[in-house]
Amino acid sequence: MKPHDNLPYSQLPDYSDAERVARSRAFYEAIRTRRTCRYFSNEAVPRAVIENAILAAGTAPNGANHQPWHFAVIESAEKKKVLRAAAEEEERAFYQSKGSEEWLEALAPLGTDADKPFLETAPYLIVIFGQRKGGMNPGETKQNYYVNESVGIATGMLITALHDAGLATLTHTPNPMKFLNQLCDRPHHEKAMMVLVVGKPAADATVPVHATNKKPLDAISSWL
Ligand SMILES: Cc1cc2nc3c(=O)[nH]c(=O)nc-3n(C[C@H](O)[C@H](O)[C@H](O)COP(=O)(O)O)c2cc1C
Repeated sequence: MKPHDNLPYSQLPDYSDAERVARSRAFYEAIRTRRTCRYFSNEAVPRAVIENAILAAGTAPNGANHQPWHFAVIESAEKKKVLRAAAEEEERAFYQSKGSEEWLEALAPLGTDADKPFLETAPYLIVIFGQRKGGMNPGETKQNYYVNESVGIATGMLITALHDAGLATLTHTPNPMKFLNQLCDRPHHEKAMMVLVVGKPAADATVPVHATNKKPLDAISSWL
C-alpha cells in the first residue's frame, strides 16, 4: 500500500445523541475519580496491564505520525533504588534552595517534600522519553515534530488507560532528569520528560483535598 492510500473510517459506533451524552457523562464520572497517588502498595500488577496501557498510549495523535516517544518500564529493585537516590538528591536541592518561593508556596497545599519512598515501593516506574530525532522506522534519524505536545497527549492517554484498569499513578518530574538516560540506557537525543509511578494505592493512601478542587466548566471553556 502506498503511504497516501486511504481506508474507509468506519470504526466509530453510531450512537444516538442520548447515548453520546450518557457515555460522555459516564466517562467524566469515571475519570474525575483519578487522583495523583503518593502512597503505593508493593503488590504485583500483571505486566500485561502495563503493556496494554502503553499500546493505548502509542495510538495517540502525534507530529507526522513519527510517534516520538519511548516508555522505559523499570521493574528492577536495583534500578528503582538508583532512581530514588538520584531523584531525592535533586528534590532536596529543589526544596532547600533551587525552587522559587512562589513555586514552593504553590506546592505547599499538596504536602509534597523531598522524600520519595514510592519510587521503590511501586511495582513499576515508567520513564517517558521524548525523541527529538527518529522518524517512523527503527534506525531512522529524521527530525521529529511537536515532540512535547505528542508526548504530553500520549502520557495523558497512558494515565487514563491505567486509571481505567484500576491502577493509581503519580506523575513525577525530578529536575534535572538527565540521569535517566544512563539509567534506562537511552540515547542522548532522547529527553526524559516524566516518571510515571504505577501500582495499587496503599491501603491507607490519602490524597490532598487541594487536588480535588477542579475549575468549573465556565472557567476552563468559552463558546464562540
Ligand atoms: C508534568 C507534571 C509534573 C508533576 N510533578 C510532580 C512531582 O514531581 N511530584 C508530585 O508529587 N506530583 C507531581 N505532579 C502531580 C500534580 O501535583 C497533580 O497532578 C496536581 O496536584 C493535581 O492533582 P491530581 O492529579 O490528583 O488531580 C505532576 C503533574 C504533572 C502533570
